[in-house]
Amino acid sequence: MSASTLPNATLTAAYEAMTPGSAALAAKARTLMPSGIAHDSRHFDPYPLYVQRALGPVKWDVDNNKYVDYFGGHGALILGHNHPAVMAAVHAALEQGTHFGACHEREVRWAELVTQMVPSAERVRFTSSGTEATLMALRLARAYTGRSKLVRFRGHFHGWHDHMTSGHTTHFDGTATSGVVEGVADNVLLCDPNDVAGITRIFNDHKDIAAVILEPTGANFGKMPILPSFLQVLRDLTKQAGTVLIFDEVVTGFRVSPGGAQAAVGITPDMTTLAKIVSGGLPGGAVVGRKDILDWLDFKVTKTAGKEKIAHPGTFNANPVSAAAGIATLEILAGTDACARANAYGETVRAKMNEVLEDEGLKWAVHGSYSGIHIYTNPEGADIVPSKFDAVSFIQRMIDKPRGEGVTGQVRMGLLVNGVDINSGPSGVISAMHGEEEMAITVDAFRATIRALKREGTVT
Ligand SMILES: Cc1ncc(COP(=O)(O)O)c(C=O)c1O
Repeated sequence: MSASTLPNATLTAAYEAMTPGSAALAAKARTLMPSGIAHDSRHFDPYPLYVQRALGPVKWDVDNNKYVDYFGGHGALILGHNHPAVMAAVHAALEQGTHFGACHEREVRWAELVTQMVPSAERVRFTSSGTEATLMALRLARAYTGRSKLVRFRGHFHGWHDHMTSGHTTHFDGTATSGVVEGVADNVLLCDPNDVAGITRIFNDHKDIAAVILEPTGANFGKMPILPSFLQVLRDLTKQAGTVLIFDEVVTGFRVSPGGAQAAVGITPDMTTLAKIVSGGLPGGAVVGRKDILDWLDFKVTKTAGKEKIAHPGTFNANPVSAAAGIATLEILAGTDACARANAYGETVRAKMNEVLEDEGLKWAVHGSYSGIHIYTNPEGADIVPSKFDAVSFIQRMIDKPRGEGVTGQVRMGLLVNGVDINSGPSGVISAMHGEEEMAITVDAFRATIRALKREGTVT
């Protein structure tokens, strides 16, 4: 069933008609888990979609509806779902055991690949998630510099640990979020993206900055773009101040290019955080960077230098099954044009979706870089030409009005009932397996969604 077979139905009614299995699971889930979910991004009215299986660029829900998938495992699946080489590697690893409580050969090959591919990676420490990777990177920076302050950018996401909660979607004044002590938040300085005067002032005013951390292509994978020239300013300022520059490449790593955003823009940070693609779609992450910084995790180096080593256990660090998936994925990315294919699809689908907006006379924009898609729903009614949209000059408005109040959920709903799953940003990530067929479905679904929203009076 799709919206086109239900021309008079509202999008919500169409969604409810096609997803009774999801509704039933959600009703039960709400009695067991807060909001019935395991990740905030799955919060969706009237209830989230329950997915049963996936293959390449598509997935099927529990009611057997098929969707072109732009969640891509939250960005982890650049090779799409169940890539045969990755699955073979995972199955082989599973046969041998899921956890040895010991070092193993795969982690050595995995670390070797990471150091070969990521320019800043002289040393690698595996973690179990991106949140753990940024937590460790910031701790390493503080230990290495002996300083306490961290600089982050409004709108950028670095996981959910205490040091990085203010300034992502709320608390843009830097005050502590629920459950975080003020003392932790007090040590984090917030700056606006691309604000050269602002970052210069921060460096003039504070001589105790341990680290600057950012998403190198901009918040939410380029939704609020960072200018390469600003990255250079950060590289110069941090170098002068003896501050550690951290690129959070949890999304962009091995996606923007096989060497991540840093290889694409030619600016090398001191440390990089990785997750998602690094472990081939299975749980995992890594903090990588200069040897003299990661040496704070080294037993012998710290002992010889008379320094207190940073402790780092972690039950699932470098898990052998994640390692197998990571190795298989990285080898493919290093040896093929997979990243470039996903990027090319991104450029074309954004252009085609903007043509739809222009045909329909709607002043929204589809924007993004590399293999990312973002839909700007223009809550303040700015005079936008979709194909000429410059997201940089809309960053402040995106921060002030992050979600276009209700419209974005309806966009997602419209796309879902027309066979496309994109998050409520509304944003999506593309895999190297997305092709002509998915492109056509996506563009048609976008047009059908806009027409349905017009019929419903949600947009004019
Ligand atoms: C840029 C960035 N950093 C860190 C994280 C946190 O990673 P994880 O969800 O693996 O903890 C994410 C997750 O989406 C992310 O996008």
